[in-house]
Amino acid sequence: MKVTVVGAGNVGATCADVLATREITNEIVLLDIKEGFAEGKALDIWQTAPINLYDSRTVGSTNDYSRTADSDVVVITSGLPRKPGMSRDDLIATNAGIVKTVTENVVKYSPNAIIIVVSNPLDVMTYCAYLNANMPSSRVFGMAGVLDTARYRAFLAEELNVSPKDIQAVLMGGHGDTMVPLPRYTTVGGIPVTELIDEARLNEIIERTKFGGGEIVKLLGTSAWYAPGAAAAQMVEAVIRDQKRIFPVCAWLQGEYGLSDIYLGVPVVLGKNGIEKIIELQLNDAERALLMDSAEAVKGVMDVLDNMIANA
Ligand code: LAC
Repeated sequence: MKVTVVGAGNVGATCADVLATREITNEIVLLDIKEGFAEGKALDIWQTAPINLYDSRTVGSTNDYSRTADSDVVVITSGLPRKPGMSRDDLIATNAGIVKTVTENVVKYSPNAIIIVVSNPLDVMTYCAYLNANMPSSRVFGMAGVLDTARYRAFLAEELNVSPKDIQAVLMGGHGDTMVPLPRYTTVGGIPVTELIDEARLNEIIERTKFGGGEIVKLLGTSAWYAPGAAAAQMVEAVIRDQKRIFPVCAWLQGEYGLSDIYLGVPVVLGKNGIEKIIELQLNDAERALLMDSAEAVKGVMDVLDNMIANA
């Protein structure tokens, strides 16, 4: 199997490194527009193979998309990351242009690939890729929920002093401050989290989760990469190994949850065909209201992109 990661920045390189180290696929192409950058990162990753004892081969390319031909999965991480004080939406104009060009090039050489978008603002960049990919929406989707639930689960594990492995959670909505962690669908070793943490403390953890990306931007002066890269790699694994994993994924909705023509985070089954099923939870009124708020926020940014395209 062949996987291309476009963008050899921190997130892309981390994703490639996880794909290689965990032998998720045997052939990885890392591509970047900056001369020599992807080649350098790929070479460095490849030189960890004798140490970490794996066979997966990572190669780099400076913007030569012919090297990516016939990829089974393509991860798009291209675009500028946030700086302190910026929202993910501030990146839209620059990153939409980048994601459009990248998608066109990817599809030209890998018309049957599955595309996983990681660029920000996530939901709208996934929409942008979909508009330019000319592929079914089951094959074009975005990574955010795996990252956001990972943050939520890490915070809960820390709070309860238990293994993060035992924390299961669903989180919906856009990859932004309106994301919707769902305590009713959060369990710890099968125990509802609400039996282990009081409501006020749980709400604090939910709030921290919503701003989890921003917390790191503030600390580092740029956005996170270890968890985003690993999250994208985990989605690639679900597709490559046809695992039928249930993950929250940024997916194109056509009537699910009463929403249409919008990319939004919802639980799905991921397998070799990409999104094989969108799972519709029976949300209560309060949860539904939060999801609708999040949908409205995402739709607002999608409209910005639609207007940019209309006026181009
Ligand atoms: C984050 C960025 C990658 O949430 O969106 O860290």
